[in-house]
Amino acid sequence: MAGIDYLERIPNNVNLAENRRLQRALEEWQPKFLEWWTDMGPVGFQAREVYLRTATSVDAQGWAQFGFVTMPEYRWGIFLAEPEPGRTIGFGDHKGRPAWQEIPGEHRGVLRRLIVTQGDTEPASVEQQRHLGRTCPSLYDLRNIFQVNVEEGRHLWAMVYLLDAYFGRDGREESEALLQRRSGDRDRPRILGAFNEKTPDWLSFFMFTYFTDRDGKYQLASLAESGFDPLSRTCRFMLTEEAHHMFVGETGIGRIVQRTCELMREHKTDDVRPHGGIDLPTLQRYLNFHFSVSVDLFGSEISTNAANFYTMGLKGRFEETKKTDDHRLKTATYPVAELDGERIVTREEPALPSLNERLRDDYVEDCARGVARWNQIIRKAGIDVELKLPHRAFHRAIGAFAEVRVSPDGRVLSEAEWDAKKHEWLPSEADAAYVGSLMQPVTERGKFANWIAPPARGINGQPTDFEYVRLA
Ligand SMILES: [Fe+2]
Ligand SMILES: [Fe+2]
Repeated sequence: MAGIDYLERIPNNVNLAENRRLQRALEEWQPKFLEWWTDMGPVGFQAREVYLRTATSVDAQGWAQFGFVTMPEYRWGIFLAEPEPGRTIGFGDHKGRPAWQEIPGEHRGVLRRLIVTQGDTEPASVEQQRHLGRTCPSLYDLRNIFQVNVEEGRHLWAMVYLLDAYFGRDGREESEALLQRRSGDRDRPRILGAFNEKTPDWLSFFMFTYFTDRDGKYQLASLAESGFDPLSRTCRFMLTEEAHHMFVGETGIGRIVQRTCELMREHKTDDVRPHGGIDLPTLQRYLNFHFSVSVDLFGSEISTNAANFYTMGLKGRFEETKKTDDHRLKTATYPVAELDGERIVTREEPALPSLNERLRDDYVEDCARGVARWNQIIRKAGIDVELKLPHRAFHRAIGAFAEVRVSPDGRVLSEAEWDAKKHEWLPSEADAAYVGSLMQPVTERGKFANWIAPPARGINGQPTDFEYVRLA
């Protein structure tokens, strides 16, 4: 009986019903997942009905089913994008051979590490965001954060599926460990730095979903090129969901910018704090912070690991299959930003160890597009200010620039210069306290907090004043 319920509860397109061994592994893991969700998932609202999107299949009809559900009853499914018949490995030493349907034995350890590192970010972000429901700026936003949270939960399921299905006992141990690490915990932190930072307020949440979920997009896109076909198909489907997370970030920041501009015009001042808005310099400092911790996630500029992942056929470039070079890159070069004494210069480096930097370039270019759209909102309001991405060397903790102080416009600074200026460039405690003071919940239908404009439209064709979360 329990088995039947269990299978019905987990929508999937991986023939779960026919794989007894996998079923047993997931059956053992599922209650632990729910326990983690209860302990570390969203605080409050767990008994409330939320208007959520659930994937029940990967086709156009099934991938986005909307309806009211309480979060613990959410149907976290396991989906792989449809297989491409005859798919071959697209790059590296194995280029042209049939894509692996089982783990290539010689790459097992590396592949497991890649999957675990990706998997670890999924529950981490849920943990980081767990207190935000209590200070939501609207029911619309409350619904959106819960959508992001349940889908990060589903992404954890996706990685656990790969670990349980392909890595035997090691995989099951890793699946357990994914539920045991905790964001920001001194003894058992999450693997990557940005996922141990706090997400204390909604401004940080929107910045996180814009900048850090976008790192996720680029990592997933390069894993979607993997020669290990189940990983490729898993990541391809995850990317469809990731798009919504970045939408939440981009439109969230855009709506704050919009509201700030309205207050600036209405009160003829740049200082909108007395009017309960978030001033543009504060937005710029939050942007600087979240961009810099997110570019760190791409790793060192020169990395033998990155070269190996590529040569082994495990992790490709962004849009690998669309590129027209030899997909081996043994003799190619790539321009990499480097420190040369007091200056930052660009040098041609061997392409293979420069793959992190190349992916970072794709990411930075993508980030800039949203910033341009925010600036359009400011321009349309007739205000002569621009938000800017800081230089990639600004405020780094990883790679060639970790040891130096660099200004947002890319000048190498002395420690004294940095100390004198850093509060202009990064959120201060006073900024955090001010933003924190704005975080008063607004849960009345159709109402929005004063510091953020309503969205242009609602979710899934619903009006913006729809009851996205049923609180009564
Ligand atoms: Fe995710
Ligand atoms: Fe995400």
